[in-house]
Amino acid sequence: MGVSKIASVDVIPKINEQFPSDDTLFLKFASSDLDSDGKEKALIEGVAKIHKKSDQKYNYVAKIEVPEGFGEIGAVIVELKENSTERFIDTIFIKNLGGSTIEPGETDGLSGMIRRIYTYLVVLFAIIRLVLESVTRCIKSLFRAPPVQQGSTTTGALGSPLNANCSTSETPVTFSCNSWIQPKNLIPDQRRIFFSTKSYLPGKTPAGLLKLRKEDLANLRGEKADGTTDKNERKAFERIYDYDVYNDLGDPDIDPEWTRPVLGGSDEYPYPRRCRTGRPHTTLDRSSEKRVEGDFYVPRDEAFSEVKQKMFPPNAGKKNKLGTNPFPNFTEVDLMFRDGIEIPPSSHDILKFNIIATLNSSDQPAPPSVQPDIIQPDSTKLKFPPPEALKRDKFLWLSDGEFARQTLAGLNPYCIQLVKSWPLKSELNPEDYGPQESGFTTELVQKLIGISITVEEAIAQKKLFVLDYHDILMQYVEKVRSIRWTTLYGSRTLFFLNSDDTLEPLAIELTRPPMDGKPQWKKVYTPSIDHATDIWLWRLAKAHVLAHDSCVHQLVVHWLRTHCCMEPYAIALNRQLSTMHPIYRLLHPHFRFNMRINANAREILINAGGIIESTFSARGYCMEFSSLVYKKEWQFDTQALPEDLIRRGMAERDDKAPHGLKLAIKDYPFANDGLILWEALVEWMTEYVNHYYPDDKAIKNDKELEAWWNEIKEKGHPDKKNEAGWPTLETPKDLIQIVSTIAWVGCGHHSAVNFIQYAHAGYFPSRPSIARINMPTEDFDIIPEKFINNPESVMLEAFPSIAQASTVAQTMLILSAHSPDEEYIGKKIEPAWAEDPMIAKAFDKFKMKLDKLEKTIDQRNENSELKNRRGVGLVPYEVLKPTSGFGVTGKGVPYSVST
Ligand SMILES: [Fe+2]
Repeated sequence: MGVSKIASVDVIPKINEQFPSDDTLFLKFASSDLDSDGKEKALIEGVAKIHKKSDQKYNYVAKIEVPEGFGEIGAVIVELKENSTERFIDTIFIKNLGGSTIEPGETDGLSGMIRRIYTYLVVLFAIIRLVLESVTRCIKSLFRAPPVQQGSTTTGALGSPLNANCSTSETPVTFSCNSWIQPKNLIPDQRRIFFSTKSYLPGKTPAGLLKLRKEDLANLRGEKADGTTDKNERKAFERIYDYDVYNDLGDPDIDPEWTRPVLGGSDEYPYPRRCRTGRPHTTLDRSSEKRVEGDFYVPRDEAFSEVKQKMFPPNAGKKNKLGTNPFPNFTEVDLMFRDGIEIPPSSHDILKFNIIATLNSSDQPAPPSVQPDIIQPDSTKLKFPPPEALKRDKFLWLSDGEFARQTLAGLNPYCIQLVKSWPLKSELNPEDYGPQESGFTTELVQKLIGISITVEEAIAQKKLFVLDYHDILMQYVEKVRSIRWTTLYGSRTLFFLNSDDTLEPLAIELTRPPMDGKPQWKKVYTPSIDHATDIWLWRLAKAHVLAHDSCVHQLVVHWLRTHCCMEPYAIALNRQLSTMHPIYRLLHPHFRFNMRINANAREILINAGGIIESTFSARGYCMEFSSLVYKKEWQFDTQALPEDLIRRGMAERDDKAPHGLKLAIKDYPFANDGLILWEALVEWMTEYVNHYYPDDKAIKNDKELEAWWNEIKEKGHPDKKNEAGWPTLETPKDLIQIVSTIAWVGCGHHSAVNFIQYAHAGYFPSRPSIARINMPTEDFDIIPEKFINNPESVMLEAFPSIAQASTVAQTMLILSAHSPDEEYIGKKIEPAWAEDPMIAKAFDKFKMKLDKLEKTIDQRNENSELKNRRGVGLVPYEVLKPTSGFGVTGKGVPYSVST
């Protein structure tokens, strides 16, 4: 005797979208079991019709008859009517008819009373049968030999395999789809397959689902029935994941000035891969891909939600030549955040987007810090909300202590490093770049640190730290200086660690390589409180270093190491791990919207003539520069937080220290908060991985996992595949380290360097994105008259122009804002995790640790002894607090890199 079931399908309409009342979904259900001949059982078919609807959800239901012995339903194939619009399938839930939410009398002609009696009887019999069959099957399973399958293990103690065996055809089944499906006429040769929330390693896949598992992966790789791969230009509705080089940043057909090298695929410009779009090549440069007016392709499920899409400008200009006029005085700078300024001529189209109005129009009220409109209605004024740092102390930008503190608790805490050897020396070829010796001589530094400690002692006691941008920037100085209204130096900034754990800047060294027939030029600047000229030179030197730090932060620490490097992991995940794979389900939240935000970046931020090139010191060489750093420095293993700290000398292994690490600077807010988050992540991932992989054999037998890891190296980062830093994947411990590193980059690393951009860099004197003119003393010891008579105007000329400053402030504001539908780490359990009690328990522990982190951060920020976190007028360090409201809050850790 078969069983009647109800398949309930929740579909989320787009905003203001209405589906026709006779709309239908065609469903086909697959058994997890094979028939007695070892073949797939015939699919059960059902037609789901609209049952209920609201603004947020349509509920469709289908009544299906499941024949006796069919086994558990493990997959569902969904089809739409020909020529209908796409649908977002949220969840499919299958349960016995007795448990239906359908109102009596809605699905058949029985009268209400008869219908209810019938339903109660069905439910009663179903429950009795369910209990009996479950008990019988479980008892049998304990005495049955394990199925002979690739990679199978005999364990049942950890829950999942045993649970699978205990499932029956009466058990309710949930399919958490969260995916777009297209009408058959658009994608005729692919079936949309969804698997239930139970996760299976390949070797433990129920036999009836093996072919479907392979079919779905082949679809995602664009493999066709004839064995070829679809290499056509991708269309927005497709869901094919493939790789390509960064060859669509330039636009040579429009203007030869916008020709850019291909990043990736060469020794000169190695780079991670992006998602392939297959657009035609440009006419003038056959290695480059044409740019298009609309959105660049990403697979359909990678697109932003409609709520998130509203947070980004719909029609921001893709290239703008920005005006070069400097602010006339600092009063005018302050007006940006008070009464507003006139919109500058030749400004960027992004300024037309009113992000604050968008935040205010959301269902939730915007936080007070972002209440004012950027652009006043019916006005030509441009007005920004005061950034947090400016609100708290308008003179903070002049503080040397804050300049140093920012390296530990600012938006770029990733570059400060311990001075491990002395004297500092360049590794560049002296024939090209001049003498290698640093201007930081022992004599000079001894004078700067005083007589209480020698330089040797300071090194031995780990008292000297440096921001060293000398070698990486020197290689671009001559190129960058060929562009008008920008300049560049190699730079080093030396810091001394005081006894109260604060850093104090000792000196800045700026170096220009030999060029234009002139020899290398270098000069050391030191803080001064005595002489006016020295005070102003120091301020200018700081502006240059801050511009360098802005470049490295934006192009390397933020873009390259998080946004860019995560994309190939996401592509490989979708191509090689089935959606029912436990590691797919573990990592998938960490890739939400990553490909879309990266495609947006290629459209308007990192492209030739885009926002980054227009506003950062390296200008047209910004992306080349990020390729250089990828080549010289990037390794997978050092992306893990502990390894990153050790690499920079900011920590050393110590089993007795918290987290097994002794920090070189005890009050290092980013490291202290980050290590708690890192450790919580590792513990969660350890329990998760060990649950599915009890031993090394389980790892070795997982061919999907092996293919995923190999593809990350071979196709995602092929230019680095033979270099050091890739862990082997042979044990559960290896896997824990790999997934923890990826997850950390997606959540902790990105959040730390993204969500306080506006707070600290919105007011550009604190952190200019560009320094536009050379130091007034370059090549000469004579102080120019203009500088003597009006140093403020020289400073403002060096700072970003009005058009640049407002473009950067607007961009930072957008990037620093959380969307109302942000998914914060640990806040909500994924349906597939909740399915398994062991995983659900591990997640609860993870969540509790994150809740504790919130409180720990609050306590730390109240502790006056932690001077790098607390002080008069300082912005408290909250950026790694896991949760947040929406908008610009300076805290909150989403799972993924999506802004
Ligand atoms: Fe970001």
